[in-house]
Amino acid sequence: MSLERIDKLLSSTGKWSRKEIKDLVRHGRVLVDGKAVARAEEKVDRETVCLIVDGKPVDCSPFVYVMLDKPAGLLSATEDSRQPTVLDLLPPELKRRGLFPVGRLDKDTTGLLLLTDDGGLAHQMLSPKKHVDKVYFAQVEGRVGPEDVSALAGGMVLEDGLHCLPAGLEPLEDGSSCLVTLREGKYHQVKRMLAARGKPVLSLRRLSMGPLTLDRGLKPGKWRFLSAQERAELQRLKGTQ
Ligand code: URA
Repeated sequence: MSLERIDKLLSSTGKWSRKEIKDLVRHGRVLVDGKAVARAEEKVDRETVCLIVDGKPVDCSPFVYVMLDKPAGLLSATEDSRQPTVLDLLPPELKRRGLFPVGRLDKDTTGLLLLTDDGGLAHQMLSPKKHVDKVYFAQVEGRVGPEDVSALAGGMVLEDGLHCLPAGLEPLEDGSSCLVTLREGKYHQVKRMLAARGKPVLSLRRLSMGPLTLDRGLKPGKWRFLSAQERAELQRLKGTQ
């Protein structure tokens, strides 16, 4: 059981200011389990309460999880004084919740980006110990062959001495595109590994991260909330050692 004040719960959705919440309650527009709330300070169980504002149920889950198909040209950051960031694609109420991207994609990389305010989950997904696979679709200059597959599988050491964990490489039929699977996320890692093999990357798109797969129905720049099933899969990840 997790008791919390109604005004705090409503405010955590980012949809209303404290003052707006007071007004909503005063005008009987907030219902708890079917009854108008008398005082905004009343406490309810966040996990089981049915909160309704103006006839619409309010999602009081403690965290928000958003899947974004990142377009090229945006920074994977929460703010930047000069350049647009992925947060600029979200509506103000979500921006107010303090969402941040779980891991970074380069400015010109597209594809799956998870945005959340769940710091614990982000930590689990990014921890090298968790070995969460990230799969990328890469188009390269030249052709990817069996020697490249062996080199990545063996764990490459890059020019600057960076030791990469063994990575997966699956050449695709056209020969000049491939799937790369990483268990870590070092700076420019896919581009640097393939460049070291003499196959510079022309375009890069992330397709999946652990149990989360990019929704093909999304288009670059579009986002959606994670489904209950996707959230449950992420929670399982959080629960494992
Ligand atoms: N590897 C890269 O080189 N760039 C990315 O954006 C992600 C992985």
